[in-house]
Amino acid sequence: MYLVFIGPPGSGKGTQAKRLAERLGFVHLSTGDILREAVKEGTPLGLEAKKYIEEGKLVPDEVVIGIVKERLGAPDCEKGVIFDGFPRTLAQAEALDRILDELGRQLERVVEIEVSEDEVLRRLTGRRTCRNCGAMYHVIFEPPKVEGVCDKCGGPLYQREDDKEEVIRERLRVYRKDTEPLVSYYERKGILVKVEGEGPIEEVRQRLLEAIGVRR
Ligand code: AP5
Repeated sequence: MYLVFIGPPGSGKGTQAKRLAERLGFVHLSTGDILREAVKEGTPLGLEAKKYIEEGKLVPDEVVIGIVKERLGAPDCEKGVIFDGFPRTLAQAEALDRILDELGRQLERVVEIEVSEDEVLRRLTGRRTCRNCGAMYHVIFEPPKVEGVCDKCGGPLYQREDDKEEVIRERLRVYRKDTEPLVSYYERKGILVKVEGEGPIEEVRQRLLEAIGVRR
């Protein structure tokens, strides 16, 4: 099963995709996570991506498409993949269709997670991420047991560079301009489902499972 989660920054794509992929034994393919890891490691990809991420702009299509193409060729992707944060432009969506076609696979569902901009700001300004294992928290909605420390590995929690209010507003602008048009692209293909993304994480998870037809 190949699924895409689409939605504005902070809509909960990562939170939900990670849990669902673990449950179904699928690969959670987050281009944001791959790019941030490259920035952390200081690789050539990371050096190129850093300026775009920090300004809330999109990394060029050819770079991101190359990453996804390479990752999808790995054997662990055969059972299923949840794409989180990809595709984000029409060129990326068309490239994904071509790559899957070459592999003899296809997208089953595209889930649009809907949340208001006020909620996005509340969520992203309170998000904290573990520097070691990438686990995610929210200072109010999903706090760690000990402030600033990851429950899972004891690593330090940090606030993402692009979670400052002015960068969040730019990311929202880019989302509306470049990514939102993909909703009608997938609607026309008849594979889009919409899910209300506000409410407790567990409730959203149940709505998602229903939308993709997975038994609870
Ligand atoms: P990326 O990492 O993909 O960021 P994003 O799409 O902006 O999404 P976020 O990770 O901010 O939010 P999310 O929807 O995953 O929400 P989350 O679950 O974390 O991309 C970052 C940058 O990389 C881009 O700006 C771009 O530069 C580059 N990039 C990445 N992919 C690219 C591509 N394909 N092309 C070009 N450039 C690309 O939740 C947020 C917070 O809310 C957390 O604290 C969480 O605990 C909390 N939360 C989640 N659900 C709930 C709930 N139901 N109630 C309360 N709190 C909740």
